Amino acid sequence: MVLPIYTFGHEKLREETEPVESDSEELQELIDDMIDTMYAAAGIGLAGPQVGRSERLFVIDVSPMAEEIEDAGQEVPPQPMVFINPEIVAESEVTTDYEEGCLSIPDVRETVTRPEAIRIQYLDRDFEKQEREVGSMLARVIQHEFDHLFGVLFTDHLGSFRKRMVRRSLRKIANGEVDADYPLVTAEGERV
Ligand code: NI
Repeated sequence: MVLPIYTFGHEKLREETEPVESDSEELQELIDDMIDTMYAAAGIGLAGPQVGRSERLFVIDVSPMAEEIEDAGQEVPPQPMVFINPEIVAESEVTTDYEEGCLSIPDVRETVTRPEAIRIQYLDRDFEKQEREVGSMLARVIQHEFDHLFGVLFTDHLGSFRKRMVRRSLRKIANGEVDADYPLVTAEGERV
């Protein structure tokens, strides 16, 4: 089932999520819904708070960037991937710049600097412990989604000048002047 995506200004996007305690039918259903929602919005990642949830989990599907990832010498694991209770346990000192967007912040794209590679521990959807070292676009998408679990949005990473440049667009979205070709929830909680 496709869920509406909460947009910038909604307090849910600023809340820290709670670790998932156990597997359940409801959790598996939520994972399926989040994957459906990500695909319906043509996104490459989606985190719990973006569909108004407090569970610490996100889903990604980086298939559209497979070539880019392979060109960077990285393997592309089977997609989609589910990350439950993830922890970033190491990050490279080397950083990269890349233009990011977010399904919760339609039509805003800005360059964000992030560590080029990370090591992440998490549970997959079968509740199997996983640990991976990832780089390139995989590391980028994972870090973006990971941030969502702690109330952090990509625009928070911008320098003061770029922040000022996007302030107007963000204020508009927060005021409910937002439109996308997938269902949304405005900052005020209205479905559009
Ligand atoms: Ni996002």
